[in-house]
Amino acid sequence: MRAVALVVGMGVAAAGCGGGSTSSTTPTTAGSPQQATGAHVFATAGCSNCHTLAAAGAHGQVGPNLDQLRPSAAAVEQQVRNGGGGMPAFSGSLSSNEITAVAAYVAHVAGQ
Ligand code: HEC
Repeated sequence: MRAVALVVGMGVAAAGCGGGSTSSTTPTTAGSPQQATGAHVFATAGCSNCHTLAAAGAHGQVGPNLDQLRPSAAAVEQQVRNGGGGMPAFSGSLSSNEITAVAAYVAHVAGQ
C-alpha cells in the first residue's frame, strides 16, 4: 500500500468552471462523445467530491490530486472498478462503458 501525500494547491482555478451552468465552454473536454460521457460521470458519480481535477472544476481533497497524478486510462479504470485505499469501488454503480469513459476522460484532461 502506498501512502499518498496530499499537497493540494487550492490556487488551481479552472477557467469558467464551477458555476453549475452548462453553458460554459470547457476547452479541454471538447471532442468525442466518450469524453462528454466521462465528464458527466466524473461530475455525477462523486469523483469530484474527493479529487481535484481542474478541467472538471473539481476541488476534492480526500483522494490524490488527479492533475498532479496524471494517471493512465488503465490506472483510472482499475481504480474505479476496484476501489481501494479509501476509495469505493464503482463496478456496482457504474456500467463498464461509464467506467471506460471516465477513465479516458481523466487520462485525457488531467494536468491540463
Ligand atoms: C470517497 C472519496 C473518493 C471518491 C468518491 C472517489 N475517489 Fe478516487 N481515490 C480516493 C482515494 C482516498 C484514493 C487513494 C487510494 C490509494 O492511495 O490507494 C483515490 C485514488 C484514485 C486514483 C489513483 C489511482 C492510482 O493510480 O494511484 C484515481 C485515478 C481515482 N481515484 C479516480 C477516481 C474517479 C474517476 C472517481 C469517480 C468515479 C473517484 N476516484 C472517486 C477517494 C475517492
